[in-house]
Amino acid sequence: MLTLGVLASGRGSNFQSIIDSIESGYLKATVSVLITDKSDAYAVERAKKHNIEALVLKPKDFADRNAYYSQVAGALKKRGVELVILAGFMRVAGKPLIDEYRNKIMNIHPALLPSFPGLHGQKQAVDYGVKISGCTVHFVDEGMDTGPIIVQAAVPAYHDDTEETLSERILLQEHKVFPYAIRLYSEGRLSVEGRKVIVRGDMKNSCIINPPL
Ligand code: GAR
Repeated sequence: MLTLGVLASGRGSNFQSIIDSIESGYLKATVSVLITDKSDAYAVERAKKHNIEALVLKPKDFADRNAYYSQVAGALKKRGVELVILAGFMRVAGKPLIDEYRNKIMNIHPALLPSFPGLHGQKQAVDYGVKISGCTVHFVDEGMDTGPIIVQAAVPAYHDDTEETLSERILLQEHKVFPYAIRLYSEGRLSVEGRKVIVRGDMKNSCIINPPL
């Protein structure tokens, strides 16, 4: 049984998809804590509903980024977290967290990286006029959305898409690929070699147009 710690800043629909995947038996894991940087994040309500501890840690209450991320890493360690999930956590992870959980932090990003990193990935894709967009689950390194890619899912992007319509289409895929990537990890099927993530057993499934669920 894999112990997860989830970091989220907002609505928490990806957090919910992970909870649902655990409850349906798709994921053999447990979430020991939700950490948020926003006390009014809806993710907190979701945690409460499912008896998951919710911890609010705000950067402004700490001397600097290092102090903040040391506290976050310590809180995760204390609760036995083995894999850290950034589910709509709108901050760049700090060094103390990355050092403690090297290649054990996963982030989901609403674009096909390395295109459109950072905030508003979907709007960047709409404004650029791409014909295919999607989402990426990757391990977190020191950069902004630069870590080794685990799984990507593609969706069409239409000329009349808005940020909202494209986001909605991508989000449906996010809710499938994130649990899928965590499942690959929990089955011991992922290893990192330089920039590349090797998916053992089923190479085809890390490039997803119709996610296998
Ligand atoms: C998701 O679309 C996620 O990919 C994105 O924020 C949204 C959170 O939604 N993350 C980023 O943009 C990180 N750079 P949720 O709170 O409903 O899961």
